[in-house]
Order: sequence, then structure tokens, then C-alpha cells
Amino acid sequence: MTSSPSSILDFPRRYCPTCDRIVTKDFRPGPGGRPDASCPRCRSLERHRFFAILLSVLSPLLDDVDLLLEVSPSPQTTPLLGRLGARTHLKLDLGADNRRVDVLGSLTDVPLADDSVDLLVCYHVLEHIPDDLAAMREIARVLAPDGLGILQVPFRPGTVTDEDPSAGEEERLRRFGQADHVRYYGDDFEDRLASCGLAIQRITPRSLLGEEMSTWVRAEPDEMVWLVRPATGAAVPEPLVVTSTALTRTFDAMLGEITRLQGEVLQARGRLERVRAERDRLRGAVAAPGAPAPAATPASGARRVVRRVRAMRGRSRGRAD
Ligand SMILES: C[S@@+](CC[C@H](N)C(=O)[O-])C[C@H]1O[C@@H](n2cnc3c(N)ncnc32)[C@H](O)[C@@H]1O
Ligand SMILES: [Zn+2]
Repeated sequence: MTSSPSSILDFPRRYCPTCDRIVTKDFRPGPGGRPDASCPRCRSLERHRFFAILLSVLSPLLDDVDLLLEVSPSPQTTPLLGRLGARTHLKLDLGADNRRVDVLGSLTDVPLADDSVDLLVCYHVLEHIPDDLAAMREIARVLAPDGLGILQVPFRPGTVTDEDPSAGEEERLRRFGQADHVRYYGDDFEDRLASCGLAIQRITPRSLLGEEMSTWVRAEPDEMVWLVRPATGAAVPEPLVVTSTALTRTFDAMLGEITRLQGEVLQARGRLERVRAERDRLRGAVAAPGAPAPAATPASGARRVVRRVRAMRGRSRGRAD
């Protein structure tokens, strides 16, 4: 099979760990026109791509999941969670935007027994719920003693949560970024979780993947994810080992080198295009010898070549006459 020169020079620009594809262009814009955010193939956003990697890192701890509760399932996360092979994979949502679920209900009142859930995933839901503490208490209640929750919310570090469930849509849009959000979380998010009986561990793309891999998969390097586990009484579980490793540093070095080589390829493409333009200009000059001499590029010495070609043509015309 042969490839055209441009396809040879097309190089990977992004990798989507949600659908396992290399993409040779930037990702598409995301919600609100955010550039380079959405995978053209599976439509994953930054959070889904980091989730895909985080889940594979955590998967050795998740090899025997009896009950998995996916709150507000997305077409990007459900297949990834499906691969865990949980004996029961329950999807729950309030039904605001017609997701396919098993349980139509609220996270503030989960129809499951205490201590029954091995893995609970809840991304970008708590900021929609007026009584978020009730939802957090439910998470703590249903999680098994060695169960794990993976949570994410819109979060502004260094601020206090800004909330107002009674605000009108316009105000919500302005203050919380979406008309159906009732708050924007700040640092006290973690205190809220703790007050509901959850032990917390923060994790970010930067801390787990390093800088380069975060760029390749277009994950927001500092977008926080919280791993939560029930903190029964004084017993706070040991943190899970999901921090940066020597492997991460190796990826960083390798991907950094690929990025550098891509820069060189881009420069070479630029040079190639300039040479092609020069060639076309010279062809034009040779084909139309009477036309005024086109401007030469300073570096090419093309003017000399054109003059020589014209002189040769003039001589040969002279001879014919
Ligand atoms: C932004 S979407 C979630 C997106 C999805 N989890 C993801 O990461 O792509 C917010 C969802 O929260 C759901 N929701 C709002 N209040 C809820 C509640 N009390 N219990 C369960 N789901 C709720 C809405 O129905 C909506 O589907
Ligand atoms: Zn994808």
C-alpha cells in the first residue's frame, strides 16, 4: 500500500484513551466552544479521557466488583466500566437529560442497602443537587467498607464554594457556568465529603500521568478527581498508591522527544513548501520568458538561474533566425 506524501507526514497529535485511537488532528471544540476538547470519534471530553486512564491504573484493585453503581452514566464511561466485569452494573440518574439507566432516581435517596456498593462513579452530578450533603451521605452509606468512590465536580481551588439553589437560570449560568448547576465548588468541597463520613484522596492528570501524557490525551493537568472511601469512626483508610511512578517519567521523556521531533517535521514541511513555491515560480518564468522577471527570493539565487535560462533561449532564437 502506498501513502501520499501528506499522509506520510501526518503524525499523531492526540491519543484518546477512551476509544483507544490516535488522532492526527486537534480534537474538536467542547461545550461552550472550548477548543481541542472532544474526541472526534467517541466524543470523550478531558474528564472522560483521564477517567479511562485512572480506571486502568486502579483496575488491579477492582478485579472482584460485585456491585458497581454508575451515577449519571455517559456513553464514554459505561463501556470502560463494563470491562471491569462487575457482577451487577447499575446505572442511576434523575432523568434530566434522558440517559439510559436502570434506576431513575436521586442520588439523595439511593435504593440500595448499606455497605453494598464496591465501586461508585459520580462525575459532574453533585453540583446539580440542591442538597449535596444528602447525596454525599448516601455515597458514604452505600459504599462497602472497602468500597471505592470516584468523584468529580467543577472545582475552583483557593475559593469557597459559591452556591445558591434558588438562583434563576441566568444567574446560575453566570455564577456556576451552567443553567442547571446550583453551585461552583471551592476548597470546602473536601470538608463536605469528610463531614459525611468519607475519606478523600485527590488525584490529578499531572500527578498521575505527568505533563506530556496529559497534553497528548488533552486532559486538564490540574483537574481534580477525588477517590473516596468510607471513613468509619477514626479508621481512615491508607491512601491508595496511584501516584507518579518511574514509568510516568519514562512516558514524559518519550513523549517529550516525540513532541520535539514533531516540531522538526513541521519546520521541514515549511522548508519543503518554500522550495515548492520557488520551483513553481521558476517554472512560470521559464514558460513565459517575455514576462517581467518575477521577484526572486533572497536566498535562492533564482534570479541568476532565470537570467541564464533566458540568455540560453535568446541565443537559440538568434541561431534559428
Ligand atoms: C452533566 S450531567 C453528567 C455527565 C456525566 N456523568 C459525564 O461525566 O459525562 C449531569 C447529570 O446529573 C443528573 N442529576 C441531577 N440531579 C441528580 C440527582 N439528584 N440524582 C442523580 N442524578 C442527578 C442529571 O439528570 C444529569 O444527567
Ligand atoms: Zn475517543
